[in-house]
Amino acid sequence: MQKIIAANWKMYKTRPEAAQTVAELTQALAGGTPHDRLVLIFPPFTSVDVVVAAFRDKKNLAVGGQNFYPVEQGAFTGEISTAMLKDAGATWVLVGHSERRHVFSESDELVARKTAFALEQGFKVMLCVGETLQEREAGQLRDVLSRQLSSALGPLPEAQRGTLAGRLAIAYEPVWAIGTGKVAGPAEVREAHAALRALLAEMLGETAADLPILYGGSVKPTNASALVGLDNVDGLLVGGASLEAQSFLQIIGS
Ligand code: 13P
Repeated sequence: MQKIIAANWKMYKTRPEAAQTVAELTQALAGGTPHDRLVLIFPPFTSVDVVVAAFRDKKNLAVGGQNFYPVEQGAFTGEISTAMLKDAGATWVLVGHSERRHVFSESDELVARKTAFALEQGFKVMLCVGETLQEREAGQLRDVLSRQLSSALGPLPEAQRGTLAGRLAIAYEPVWAIGTGKVAGPAEVREAHAALRALLAEMLGETAADLPILYGGSVKPTNASALVGLDNVDGLLVGGASLEAQSFLQIIGS
């Protein structure tokens, strides 16, 4: 399976800053991405077109939106539609990110609506799941992952579920590892990713083997290759360390 190395820029970078970072990336990747990896960037909305323009006609580079509201259009002040993201050139969307769930109180139900809507609109979806420290300490890891996956994927129409390969990726991001410098250890990552693969198999049958499961949470150039080499780790979702081109390039090459 092609490994996906994804950057979530969160609420960082003006347009000139995004253009500068992406110019450094494309220059360094002019000869192609290593091992045919897919490099995916989720910039803030205002810079989606900037990154799309820099990636145009280049292989194995893609751009996604960090958020959207799951209806076609309407009176939803401050929201962005999938049509707007499509117009700007995005082909992926992030759904269920821990910051959306915990800072903006997005419910499992909204995550499910967003997942279904984005797939229906032809987007590739990166669905983020992960437990809080409290949930982990209470021994609820598997229950939380199961609830987050089944609430998001369970309601999908049968026809959608059969065609998820190539259109859905899962990102395991333990909440306690995001932006904290505390990366999950190899045993913890292996356990969570194996649990996710098994849960996906229960829900989706054979398709489960074809769905990439990325790890995210304090990924750095120093730990990236160990993480990406673990069983069932099909890529990385990187926050802080993706903001500087040089550091993200090291992770891409790891
Ligand atoms: P950090 O890499 O900054 O911990 O962020 C992870 C993340 O939330 C990526 O979506």
